[in-house]
Amino acid sequence: MCHRAGMLTLRATTPDDLRHLAGWETEPDTSTWLGETGADWHARALTDLDQEHLVAADGDALVGFAVLAGLRGGEGIELRRMVVAPAHRGAGRGRALLEAVLARAYRDHGAGTVWLDVKEHNRRARRLYESSGFVVREMRTNAIANPDGTAADLVIMVHQLGREPAAPS
Ligand SMILES: CC(C)(COP(=O)(O)OP(=O)(O)OC[C@H]1O[C@@H](n2cnc3c(N)ncnc32)[C@H](O)[C@@H]1OP(=O)(O)O)[C@@H](O)C(=O)NCCC(=O)NCCS
Repeated sequence: MCHRAGMLTLRATTPDDLRHLAGWETEPDTSTWLGETGADWHARALTDLDQEHLVAADGDALVGFAVLAGLRGGEGIELRRMVVAPAHRGAGRGRALLEAVLARAYRDHGAGTVWLDVKEHNRRARRLYESSGFVVREMRTNAIANPDGTAADLVIMVHQLGREPAAPS
């Protein structure tokens, strides 16, 4: 399996890769936006047959990762996590990673839809998803904890195979 989008190549994550990813997740502008993190979460994603852990590389450099879930059936494939390394943000890597991950879900896993949840105040990620063709399906109030113990609302978004990206606003 190998998908290229822009300069990125998507491949299966190895246990060795996890050392890099763990550092990205503890950075505050990442951990704020995620649910559970840590070595055990990633180890489960690597071994669970219902999930697929993927890294995006530009040459030898790892620039992001994504985790797909729901591969064994259910209500479409879930994009459970997507992170661009802090040093690589704001340069189109997130969009390229999302494009490669959607190609993986639709072409290789035969998905008809891809869904995800995102914290309501994560405007950066929501803008990326909306401009890539995801639409809001549901809002869940106080559905997830922030690192400071407060509760955050979650937005459930869905992407359909063949959906054209929204025109820029
Ligand atoms: C969200 C994330 C994956 C986006 O990746 P990125 O490489 O920073 O984003 P890109 O440079 O590819 O930009 C893609 C789009 O995101 C939006 N975006 C990027 N940076 C933004 C910012 N600072 N403010 C608002 N929107 C922003 C824009 O719509 C942009 O498209 P445009 O450049 O055509 O306007 C990345 O910032 C990240 O890993 N964030 C922390 C973890 C996270 O929130 N993951 C998602 C959890 S659901």
